[in-house]
Amino acid sequence: MSDERPADERHVPVLLQRCLDLLAPALAAEGAVMVDSTLGMGGHTEGVLTAFPHVRVIGLDRDTQALELAGRRLAPFGDRFVGVHAVYDAIRDVLDELGIPAVQGVLMDLGVSSLQLDEVDRGFSYAQDAPLDMRMDATRGRTAADVLNTYEERDLARILRVYGEERFAPRIARNVVAARAKAPLQRTGELVDIIRASIPAANRKVGGHPAKRTFQALRIEVNGELVTLERAVPESIEALSVGGRIVVEAYQSLEDRIVKQAFAAGATTSAPPDLPVVPETHTPYLRLVTRGAEEADDAELALNPRSASVRLRAAERLRPTPSHMLPRTNEPSRPTQPARTSGKNRRRTA
Ligand SMILES: C[S@@+](CC[C@H](N)C(=O)[O-])C[C@H]1O[C@@H](n2cnc3c(N)ncnc32)[C@H](O)[C@@H]1O
Repeated sequence: MSDERPADERHVPVLLQRCLDLLAPALAAEGAVMVDSTLGMGGHTEGVLTAFPHVRVIGLDRDTQALELAGRRLAPFGDRFVGVHAVYDAIRDVLDELGIPAVQGVLMDLGVSSLQLDEVDRGFSYAQDAPLDMRMDATRGRTAADVLNTYEERDLARILRVYGEERFAPRIARNVVAARAKAPLQRTGELVDIIRASIPAANRKVGGHPAKRTFQALRIEVNGELVTLERAVPESIEALSVGGRIVVEAYQSLEDRIVKQAFAAGATTSAPPDLPVVPETHTPYLRLVTRGAEEADDAELALNPRSASVRLRAAERLRPTPSHMLPRTNEPSRPTQPARTSGKNRRRTA
C-alpha cells in the first residue's frame, strides 16, 4: 500500500525556521555548501535552497525511496542539489568523491520519516499489520523478523530495555521466543499481540500504545541507529570549515545524549584541570550555539505533532580539531549501491 501524495504534503519539517536561523551565519559565504545528512522528503533542504539562493546542498539518505521523492521535489533547484544514497557516517567519503574538502553547514533531523511510517508495507508502524521489516535501507541488511527470530532471549530483552526503555522487556522477549518456537514471526500484528499479552492490563493504559517502545527498540537495532550516530556526529564536525555550523534534531534521549556528548567534547578544554595556562592545542574547537537542547514551542506543536519530542542542538566550529581530539577512524557504513541523484532526479552509479 503506498501513499501517492507529493513529498511536501506528507511531511512538515520540524523547527524549519529555527534551523535556517541557526545555519544562516555559516551559510552566508559565497559558494557555501551544506550537507543535509537526513534528506527524507527534502523539506529542510527545500527551505535552505529557497532561503539561501547561493547555497548548494548535498542530501544524504539511506532510503532510496526518500531520495526518489526528494529528488522530484527538489528538481527545480537544478544542480544546486545533489542527492546521494549513503549512510550519514560516510559523510567524509561522500564529500571526497564530490571533491569537496569542507562544508559550511550540516543538518541532521534524526529518526524515521513520515514516508517510512506511512508506507504500511515497510513495517515501521504498530498501527497496521505488515511484514516485520523496519529497514530504512530496504536494499540490504537484516529485518526486524531476522532480529526477532534469531537473537537470543537475553539479547532481545536487553535491546527492548535499553533502546525502548521497556519495563516489561524480559516478559516480551520470553514470549517472542516461545512464539517463534512454534513458527517464525513474520507480521507486525503477531508482534503487537505478543506485546499486549506480555504487559499487565493496568500498565497497558499508560505510556501510549503498548507496542510503541518495542517498535522503537527494534527499529534502532535493525538500522544500527545509535552506533552509526556515534560515528556520524564527530565525522560531521570534522567536515565543517572554521565558522561552519552543525544543527541536530533528536527525538529520543539516547540520540540526544550522543549529540550532547560529542558537542561537549569539542566545546570544553581538553587540558588537565591543574594547568595554570591552557595551551592553544587544548582550547575548545567548538562553540555551543544553543543553550542546552531547544524544544518546540506551542506554535510549532500546533503545526506539527511530530515536533513534540524534538531536542535541537547546534554548534559552530572555532578552529581545526587538535590531533589528540580527532575521531578515531572506524570503517563507516557503506551502501551496497552508492547512487547519486541530482535535482533533476538523475541517478548514477558511483
Ligand atoms: C526525520 S526524516 C528527515 C526529514 C527531512 N528533514 C524532511 O524535512 O523531509 C529522517 C530521514 O533520515 C534518514 N536516515 C536515518 N538514519 C540515517 C542514516 N544513518 N544515514 C542516512 N540517512 C538516514 C531516514 O531514512 C529518513 O528519511
